Amino acid sequence: MKSAISKTRKYNGFNAPKGSRISFVDGAPVVPDNPIIPFIEGDGIGPEIWLATRRVVDAAVASAYGGKRNIAWFEIFAGGKAKELFDNWLPDDSVDAIADFGVAIKGPLNTPSGGGFRSLNVRLRQTLDLYSCIRPIHHIEGVPSVLKAPEKLDVVIFRENTEDVYAGIEYQAGTEDALKVAGLLSELGTEVREGTGIGIKIISKEASRRLVRRAIQYAIDHGRKSVTLVHKGNIQKYTEGAFSLWGYELAKEEFGDLTITEKELWDEHDGVLPEGKVLVNDRIADAIFYELLINPEKYSVIATTNLNGDYLSDACAAQVGGLGVAPGANIGDTSALFEAVHGTAPTIAGKNIANPTSLLLSALMMLEYMGWDEAAAMVHKALSRTIGNKRATGDLTRLMDDARALSTSEFADALIAELPAVEAKEQLVGDETKNQNVVPAANTRGKRAMPKVSVIGAGGVGATCAQYIANMGLADVVLLDIQEGIPQGKGLDLLQAGALLGSDARIHGTNDYADTVGSDIVVITAGIARKPGMSRDDLLKTNATIVQEVAHRAFTLSPEAIFLVVTNPLDVMTYLVWKTTGLPSAKVIGMAGALDSARFKAFIAEALDVSVVDIQAMVLGGHGDLMVPLPRYSTVSGIPITELMDAEKIEALCARTRDGGAEIVSHLKTGSAFYAPGASVTMMVESILKDSHRLIPSSVHVGGAYGIKGDLFIGLPTVLCRHGVHGVVEIKLRRDEKRALKASAKTVQGTIETMETLLG
Ligand code: APR
Repeated sequence: MKSAISKTRKYNGFNAPKGSRISFVDGAPVVPDNPIIPFIEGDGIGPEIWLATRRVVDAAVASAYGGKRNIAWFEIFAGGKAKELFDNWLPDDSVDAIADFGVAIKGPLNTPSGGGFRSLNVRLRQTLDLYSCIRPIHHIEGVPSVLKAPEKLDVVIFRENTEDVYAGIEYQAGTEDALKVAGLLSELGTEVREGTGIGIKIISKEASRRLVRRAIQYAIDHGRKSVTLVHKGNIQKYTEGAFSLWGYELAKEEFGDLTITEKELWDEHDGVLPEGKVLVNDRIADAIFYELLINPEKYSVIATTNLNGDYLSDACAAQVGGLGVAPGANIGDTSALFEAVHGTAPTIAGKNIANPTSLLLSALMMLEYMGWDEAAAMVHKALSRTIGNKRATGDLTRLMDDARALSTSEFADALIAELPAVEAKEQLVGDETKNQNVVPAANTRGKRAMPKVSVIGAGGVGATCAQYIANMGLADVVLLDIQEGIPQGKGLDLLQAGALLGSDARIHGTNDYADTVGSDIVVITAGIARKPGMSRDDLLKTNATIVQEVAHRAFTLSPEAIFLVVTNPLDVMTYLVWKTTGLPSAKVIGMAGALDSARFKAFIAEALDVSVVDIQAMVLGGHGDLMVPLPRYSTVSGIPITELMDAEKIEALCARTRDGGAEIVSHLKTGSAFYAPGASVTMMVESILKDSHRLIPSSVHVGGAYGIKGDLFIGLPTVLCRHGVHGVVEIKLRRDEKRALKASAKTVQGTIETMETLLG
């Protein structure tokens, strides 16, 4: 029995996310709508295939349940990452987390080299008593196979996971222990040669019975016609042979009315399986390899001992396309661990070319195990359609005709594109039982329908733009942050400020992405500021990792939202959000030019002593040092400032604009500007929500404008409408301005490349 988990219990120093625990009754999971599921991303290709898997699973869950159900993923550590962080290949906390939360998933793990280490996978299985290894193996349409008719194989292998030669009872030749065991054998009448290594195979009645029980139950639950006990009992009577006998015994005792033996089938039913019965038969291990190639359609569920199961699972996987497309699960009575069955593929790690299908299929098994069949079916359909349309990772397309090789992330994008659109808004609004604090997709308080803006990151910029957006009555606001308490506190404070300022907009502070479901706009301000000792690349990597995760999580719950990006380095982060979400480029916009222009405008007004209301200022290019102010297109009531100030003065204002952020930082000492950035976001939000088609310099996909090629985002004069970018205005630039803009684009491109290298 599991003991109660303390709410304050940390795992590897981290709190679990908000969510509920999966419990077990009679060996079966009882799954809440927001289960906490620990994950181990794994070594080598693990992180990239895990990211792809997680994106597809989240999207499928969002698509199937519209925000009513969602998974609270919780990272735990094992393998190389755990060694690096905690100097421990498998921290106890990670094992405890799986035991406590019940269901977990993992990528491939390196087994530490050197003497004395047992495989991490084996340790996990044995420590958690995950006694059944389940490997469903069937062909996915389109996956290349060496066989003519790979679709004929459709088996689920139940492999005993805790005993057999994997129990680790081995004695090295010549050691004292080996000699002792040899002595004992001699006493029992068996002589072994000098210099013999000895391994002991153990097979118990209890372990055999519980494995066969699961296999038969599975066959009954899933309408499968047979369970074949596979063993090598002709040679090893009391281990392999006993496994088979105990299996038959259990079938008779516990499932007597639902199973029949092969003898009964022929003696009493002329070989025709009676309706509602499961055939229990057995095959010798060597024969089954032959049988599964020649007569695969005769087999359905296989229950076998550990070593046989190991060989058989990989051989069957090879028949349907290899280990890259084979999933696995290790299931006990109180926990379950789903995993990719292949290795870490270190030679292709970090290249974004690995095939995530094995891990994704394991996640699909996990969804089925949880009873989330709708989401599982969607993942399965998306896989069949995508691969069936000859779109897959290179390992598969290499073997197909006319197929297009996709990167790991593109493959995930393609799968997500095959999922049905989320119907979050309708479902959530109609669902009275959902979290009462959630701001619905369209607030229908009174007669007014209020749009919904989610601001991710409740720091200086996030809280300020939340304040402006709500106070101006533009939208209801969900303010989300990773820090507990901050968004809740700020949200309440802002709500109360609204009461004084006469705003009916609702502000809700939260740590839970479920609250962002169905947003019209998502504003991303999450990130960290550069800390002493941190290089630019360190900052880039950290913020990119944060933005990638945030964008992905928000996108899965609000796939129709427009994304406004604020986190620096702005143009690069905007590109990253576009890549991560796979949204059309018109829906991903960076806040940059609006702020730079505002600064330019403020300085012009101050210098000329005129009202800011009459000033239009235009700034292009990358945000920060890279900006290209355009004095010719900056006017006071239509009069270019070049008519009102000398060149030197203008250059000084341009320089001050370029350094606008740094000047504020130098005063603040810690932190950076937030009022003007918050106001700039608000102006963009207003133009989008009111569909006012304002021309606001924004960081947008260049799409060949201004002769700039490639997939990059940079500040350009942009008309913003309800669909995001309505269009980019191409103004005539002088040669030096064009050069500056191109140089700016080149630098942004360079930083994108650095980021992609850093992210792997
Ligand atoms: N998920 C959600 N919130 C996060 C995450 C995350 N993974 N990581 C960090 N945050 C939150 C922090 O907890 C913090 O509250 O993001 C917030 C950032 O706030 P500040 O540090 O105050 O930064 P801010 O001044 O708001 O600037 C945000 O905009 O202008 C840019 O350069 C600036 O990149 C920075 C961003």
